[in-house]
Amino acid sequence: MRLDVFTLVPHAFAWLTEQRPVATVLGGELDLRLFSYRETTPLRNGQVDDEPYGGGAGMVLRVDVVAAALDAAYGGAPPERVVALTPKGRQLTQAVVEELAAAPGVALLSARFEGFDERVVEHLATDAVSIGPYVLSNGDLPAMVLVDAIARRLPGALAEGSGELESFSAELGGGLEYPHYTRPAEFRGWRVPDVLLSGDHAKIEGWRREQIR
Ligand SMILES: C[S@@+](CC[C@H](N)C(=O)[O-])C[C@H]1O[C@@H](n2cnc3c(N)ncnc32)[C@H](O)[C@@H]1O
Repeated sequence: MRLDVFTLVPHAFAWLTEQRPVATVLGGELDLRLFSYRETTPLRNGQVDDEPYGGGAGMVLRVDVVAAALDAAYGGAPPERVVALTPKGRQLTQAVVEELAAAPGVALLSARFEGFDERVVEHLATDAVSIGPYVLSNGDLPAMVLVDAIARRLPGALAEGSGELESFSAELGGGLEYPHYTRPAEFRGWRVPDVLLSGDHAKIEGWRREQIR
């Protein structure tokens, strides 16, 4: 799939692109592109935001700036899903991630300061997504959260089997995964459940099913 991020700090995504699973699928199942609003702004001196009409604190990301960035990238044919990242959007869940990961193309729009001119959300975006009921300083961390969450759903992103039985997955009925343990079998008197050391795979499977919440 093609995943495009519109931001003021494309370089901030360098770290993410070096990490698994994003690095694993990059150039294969994932075509990740980073666009700077500043590169295509129709305003002078790289201006992208402006004072709010009606007064008040903060600066607002201009609709003409976002439109110019989308036009430059897509020439009037934007992807199926254009997601404005905003605390006022639909809360991100695994179901929303699956939905976006199934789209052939997704654009993620990041803002800062007071956020987007509302016309971006109303007319340029198809979706508004919040990564949680709290406010961050800009949309870049939310965009990274989505890039990571989407990338790990793409074919080949994860080792065989590790992506299916995960918390919130359909296979676990949307529940939380069973607990994991590794060596040592005992540490400070804290023992790994005996069943996991039993070698009885049917019993282990049953115990794991019981632990799903
Ligand atoms: C400081 S926030 C703007 C907050 C906005 N004035 C409000 O009260 O809802 C700046 C930008 O960070 C991003 N952002 C902050 N928190 C977010 C969240 N929980 N989910 C998604 N994006 C968020 C959005 O792009 C937002 O426009």
